[in-house]
Amino acid sequence: MKDLFDKIYADKGPLGKWADKAEGYFVFPKLEGPISNRMKFQGKDVITWSINDYLGLANHPEVRKVDAEAGAKYGSAYPMGARMMSGHTDMHEQLQNELAAFVQKEAAYLLNFGYQGMVSTIDALVSKDDIIVYDVDAHACIIDGVRLHAGKRFTYRHNDMESIEKNLMRATKLAEKTGGGILLISEGVFGMRGEQGKLKEIVALKEKFNFRLFVDDAHGFGTLGKTGAGAGEEQGVQDKIDVYFATFAKSMASTGAFIAADQEIIDYLKYNLRSQMFAKSLQMQLVEGALKRLDMLRTMPELKAKLWENVNALQSGLKSRGFDIGTTQSCVTPVYLKGSIPEAMALVKDLRENHGIFCSIVVYPVIPKGLILLRLIPTASHTLQDVEETLQAFSAIREKLETGVYKRLTAAMAAEMGE
Ligand SMILES: Cc1ncc(COP(=O)(O)O)c(C=O)c1O
Repeated sequence: MKDLFDKIYADKGPLGKWADKAEGYFVFPKLEGPISNRMKFQGKDVITWSINDYLGLANHPEVRKVDAEAGAKYGSAYPMGARMMSGHTDMHEQLQNELAAFVQKEAAYLLNFGYQGMVSTIDALVSKDDIIVYDVDAHACIIDGVRLHAGKRFTYRHNDMESIEKNLMRATKLAEKTGGGILLISEGVFGMRGEQGKLKEIVALKEKFNFRLFVDDAHGFGTLGKTGAGAGEEQGVQDKIDVYFATFAKSMASTGAFIAADQEIIDYLKYNLRSQMFAKSLQMQLVEGALKRLDMLRTMPELKAKLWENVNALQSGLKSRGFDIGTTQSCVTPVYLKGSIPEAMALVKDLRENHGIFCSIVVYPVIPKGLILLRLIPTASHTLQDVEETLQAFSAIREKLETGVYKRLTAAMAAEMGE
């Protein structure tokens, strides 16, 4: 009989197998210093394009003050216990009410973490006779929520209306047999490529099919829509989203998350969300901090305006220099280049060491072989000078990539990796 750990000793997994080449640099890098447009990486100053601090709140003095005061007042323990048992407070309720109003829903409920909360919400919304229809490019938390589902699920091709309709048709036929309902799950903004979910078109299908729409708007909340209520507001269909989800981990630069929906649905979830029923309540420092951040989202539209000034400068600058930034419709800015994994590694090293630019890199197997995706996240704390320096650096590395400089530098590594 095998030892349980044999497979772990033999295979570190699709990402883990790169650890000896990548750890500390490409994965698990240590960015140091206060969270801002410029931080330190391995002792060097770098312009940081890899942090979802969209509105620049992470290190805003007013936010830091409230966080520190709440920490001093409550410590990190209060309140103790799950919401249902002993961890409930007026402040938790106030935050829920304010969040619900902000995203134009009747009610909201707090989640300790977006990831777990999403998994748990999917679990609570469906029972075995129901059918889930969801985008093939969905975030891991959606995929894992769907994995808990004991009934049928159908994936549709990414943002493809024909495929959505076809799968809704299949789901409808099946639901008529099982006696269940249909939950369609999309993201408001797909975090890798920056496209918005086709919420307006999906909502229009409610005329033809009977389904409920659940939207993970992690990247849309605070960045899209007139008031910052997200992708649904941007597309004019916020009221047609049946269950809305956002995390505090991006625009709010904190930890925690929430769902928002009609009062009756939230009342149900409150009593059925296992991630909240059986886990300690969101700590008070985070609740007070979130109230402050939400207030800033409401009252300081200049933050979102500055974010978009930077997004537009970066995206139009990249496009005018001939870079392929795909079909983004959000702040997420992907840059697609062609090259091998060793070339991608050399290029990112060059960007960090010689140009002081820190961005995330995505390669095969996450995207097709031969493609390199550099992912830039502009924030309100960036400056137009940051954008200009970055554009120049990108032109320089593209020149080297196209003239084979990185290929020559990495020939030995490529042979070793069978590239
Ligand atoms: C689309 C999406 N959903 C959910 C999450 C998870 O949120 P959290 O970080 O609060 O667990 C993330 C990442 O933060 C995300 O990008």
